[in-house]
Amino acid sequence: MRSSLRDSSPRHYLMCPPTHFGVTYSINPWMDPAKPVDLPLAMNQWKDLRNRYRALGHTVELLEPRSDLPDMVFAANGATVVDGRVLLARFAHRERAGEAAAHLDWFRTNGWATIHEPSHINEGEGDFAVTASWVLAGRGFRSSPLSHGEAQEFFGRPVIGLDLVDPRYYHLDTALCVLDDAADEIMYYPDAFSPGSRAALRRIFPGALIAREADAAAFGLNAVSDGRHVLLPPAAVGLYGPLRERGYEPIGVDLGELLKGGGSVKCCTQELRR
Ligand code: ARG
Repeated sequence: MRSSLRDSSPRHYLMCPPTHFGVTYSINPWMDPAKPVDLPLAMNQWKDLRNRYRALGHTVELLEPRSDLPDMVFAANGATVVDGRVLLARFAHRERAGEAAAHLDWFRTNGWATIHEPSHINEGEGDFAVTASWVLAGRGFRSSPLSHGEAQEFFGRPVIGLDLVDPRYYHLDTALCVLDDAADEIMYYPDAFSPGSRAALRRIFPGALIAREADAAAFGLNAVSDGRHVLLPPAAVGLYGPLRERGYEPIGVDLGELLKGGGSVKCCTQELRR
C-alpha cells in the first residue's frame, strides 16, 4: 500500500465524436450488427469522457467525423505519436481503411511535420503502448509483426512484440494498459497473451498489476492514465482497489454504447506525445 497519491502530468489527446457511430459490420467478437445502438446515449457518454479529460487539465483536440466511417470514434487506432513523430495507421480491414487518410489530413493541417505513412499494417495505439523504456506492440489479430520493426526504426525506441491469442482481446489496448509511463508501470490480463509473451511480460514488468478475467471482459484494461487518474469502465470493479493501493485514483467512465463496437475509454483516445 502506497501512502501517497501519485502525480499526474498534463496530456494532449485526439478524439473523434461518435456522430456517425454504428455497428454496421462485425470485425471483432463484440460487434453484433443486430443489436441496436442508442446514438444520443453514445454521444453523451463520449462527451462525458471528453469533459473529464478537460476537467483534469488535459488538452483534447477533435477530429472531424465522417459519415462513411462508423468506427472513427475509436481514434486511438489512427496513429501512434511519440516524441512528436507520427506513425500513421494502416488498417487491417477495408471497412476502416479510410480512417488513415482522415488522420493524415488532421496531422498535416495541424502542423505535425514528421509523419510516416507505413508499409505494414498497424492499428495505431490499438496495438502500440508507450512507456519510458519501450514500445509494447501487439500482433496476432490486426497489426502485422512487420509493423514492429517499422515502428522501432521510425521511433528509435525498442519495440517489444507481444502475441495476442484470444479474439476478444484483438488489440493490445484491450488487454494491457500503461499506468505510469515514466516509471514503466502497467496492468494487463495474462490469458490474452501467448505463454511466451506472458513470460516476457513477467520478466519485464515483475510488479505489474494483474487483471482478472471479469475485469478484462468489462474492458477494464482499455483505460487511460495520466500517471495519477485512471479513467476506466465502472464495471471493472476488481481493478479499483488494487489501483488505489498503488496510489492511483480510478475514475469510472461508462462508455457502454461504444462497447457494442468493441471499444471503451482507451479506444476513444489517441495520445499525442510531443
Ligand atoms: N470496432 C472497432 C474495430 O474492431 C473497435 C476498435 C477499438 N479500438 C481499440 N483501440 N481497441 O476495429
